[in-house]
Amino acid sequence: MMVLLPLLSLLLLEWALIGSCSEKGGNDEQPSTYSDTYYHGPWIAGRPGRDGRDGRDGAKGEKGDPGEVLNGMQGCPANVGHSGSPGPQGPPGIKGMKGEPGGMHSSLIEERLNMTSYLTARLLKLSKALTFYGNMVHLGEKFYVTTGQSFNFFMINKTCQEMGGAVATPRNKEENAAIMKLVVRHNTHAFLALREGIIGKFYYLDGSPLKYTNWYSGRPDGQGQENCVEMYTDGTWNDRDCSYYRLGICEF
Ligand SMILES: *[C@@H]1O[C@H](CO)[C@@H](O)[C@H](O)[C@H]1NC(C)=O
Ligand SMILES: *[C@@H]1O[C@H](CO)[C@@H](O)[C@H](O)[C@H]1NC(C)=O
Repeated sequence: MMVLLPLLSLLLLEWALIGSCSEKGGNDEQPSTYSDTYYHGPWIAGRPGRDGRDGRDGAKGEKGDPGEVLNGMQGCPANVGHSGSPGPQGPPGIKGMKGEPGGMHSSLIEERLNMTSYLTARLLKLSKALTFYGNMVHLGEKFYVTTGQSFNFFMINKTCQEMGGAVATPRNKEENAAIMKLVVRHNTHAFLALREGIIGKFYYLDGSPLKYTNWYSGRPDGQGQENCVEMYTDGTWNDRDCSYYRLGICEF
């Protein structure tokens, strides 16, 4: 589940990248047009050369010789002029190379689309199954997942991190209600990702202050002896010793 989700977003990203690349490779007829003009150039230059021979026949006298020399001279500048123009036409040739892989990519896109729809269908089934067994609740982009087992806070934190998630923490009323569903379904108390800093003051694990709280009346009351927080089955919070075993809920 946790492995498949990032994989799916990776696939979508890759698909988007390849899509934009193959669009650029569309002009693969351009290079052949340019190579035609390249070979066309010398061909035109050849014709003036033959005209030169006619000139020789006509003259046979003294004028014939200078005519030949002049035609020859003109031919050379003509060739130089044509070979100059293919220079700037070089870059479009590279675009032609990209055109071929473009064809391959479209089948890769199809393959990835197939894989994406396959994974989406699988995830939907998994999601339904996990929800059915009471192990998962999803709220917007967030998934709250539990194995149904209880551990001390540090083991829960370690496990959630290793799975690529974090210990569940409600940051508003809706998230508190979503997490509470799992607590109610497993009829136990669950640790939240909150820790005591200075005595009586609790923080998120990154040290930032709480944006939302739902303390049970009179809590926290541990006087610095209960550094972790558990959620009761009514969704309220109580400070509790971190070494107690409580339901582990991760968020992804
Ligand atoms: C994608 O799936 C369709 C139908 O399931 C199939 O016809 C097609 O060959 C698949 N394409 C690839 C690239 O796997
Ligand atoms: C939670 O786990 C992470 C990764 O193992 C660790 O770096 C962090 O210190 C732990 N936090 C607490 C409060 O145990």
